[in-house]
Amino acid sequence: MSTSTVTPKGLEGVIAAVSSICSIDGDRGILAYRGIDIHELADNSTFEETCYLLWFGKLPNRAELREFTRALADERKLDTAIINLLRQAPRHALPMDVLRTAVSALSFYDPEETVNTAEANLHKSLRLTSQLAMIVAAYDRIRKGRPVVEPDRSLSHAGNFLLMLNGEPPSKTAERALDIALILHADHELNASTFAARVTAATLSDMHSAITSGIGALKGPLHGGANEAVFKILAEIAKTGADPVEHIKGMLAQKKKIPGFGHRVYHTEDPRATHLRQMSRELGESSGQAKWWEYSSKIEQFMKADKKLNANVDFYSASTYYTLGIELDLFTPIFAVSRISGWTAHVMEQLGDNRLIRPRADYVGPAYPQRYVPIDRR
Ligand SMILES: CC(C)(COP(=O)(O)OP(=O)(O)OC[C@H]1O[C@@H](n2cnc3c(N)ncnc32)[C@H](O)[C@@H]1OP(=O)(O)O)[C@@H](O)C(=O)NCCC(=O)NCCS
Repeated sequence: MSTSTVTPKGLEGVIAAVSSICSIDGDRGILAYRGIDIHELADNSTFEETCYLLWFGKLPNRAELREFTRALADERKLDTAIINLLRQAPRHALPMDVLRTAVSALSFYDPEETVNTAEANLHKSLRLTSQLAMIVAAYDRIRKGRPVVEPDRSLSHAGNFLLMLNGEPPSKTAERALDIALILHADHELNASTFAARVTAATLSDMHSAITSGIGALKGPLHGGANEAVFKILAEIAKTGADPVEHIKGMLAQKKKIPGFGHRVYHTEDPRATHLRQMSRELGESSGQAKWWEYSSKIEQFMKADKKLNANVDFYSASTYYTLGIELDLFTPIFAVSRISGWTAHVMEQLGDNRLIRPRADYVGPAYPQRYVPIDRR
């Protein structure tokens, strides 16, 4: 092997891209989009405005935001062929798998399918952001034998998603809670799914392929799949009546990792968890379902004291989504409904100054030269 250095396992600490989209200070627990602290965005912004910030590098003025919001809402349309594809998925198909396949299929019906220019990719980013939310909502309706709900272009992105999911306009509280969750999940620097999307884009493949790569990477329980895994634990605790801390101790004794804890970059509190903890508590208390927050809080205190591990974004998003009445297997697809904004921002940035991403491997196999042995002599 001729490479001079061997990178750490899992590329820990390796800087693999130059980006001006999102920054993380893992020691101070700071996350910022284009330099603006996530706490300020969660308190004041909307998902639409956050998309604009990620894609254009600045906050929009009033006219720009109005125009952008309209353009995003105008893309609330799904080709009938995509609805048919959702209908044809086997009943047991998981929403995250259906989303991955449907996003890949969207390229067939994209008016700029074969165009990979900056302008076409901006259009595709708008389309995909609207379409992902619609696919997740429509598939959930279809699998439950309910009619697909027509989009309402006058609603916010979060509001329209909840309308299309539940068949009725959401409360202001639910709409704002989801809007904040979408802001918090929108981007996270070079996380695994964004890296996958950038690697695909860098081959000069296309936007739909890059996003399909991203969805595939997000699905895993070490990444976006963790929020669903967290709620399965909370539900198990509720079902068996176990003490939350004893349940977690039992998992640790079996050398299991506890979903929703630990992070490759943060060595302190994940700033997204700060908001989601509060939302989980407020929504739980106001909806008479405080127990999910209470279990979570006990588990968090134990993990921090005993394992020195902090809750990450997925820990409190689980109880937050559940108290919003969202199905368990939609938690990770909703992560994608938000992260599409970050993935597309990164794909556009990658293509703006592209070079093929092609690292090397440290070869540790049989030494060269080995001989080819004919099959009857093996
Ligand atoms: C996020 C995560 C994948 C980061 O992985 P990583 O940077 O490769 O860190 P490691 O898995 O090497 O963990 C380092 C140490 O902390 C422990 N650890 C990390 N996360 C843990 C968890 N959730 N539960 C129990 N122990 C954990 C590991 O066992 C390891 O201990 P060791 O050094 O004694 O072997 C990891 O923390 C994890 O699997 N968390 C649970 C899944 C999750 O919530 N994912 C969503 C991330 S936003």
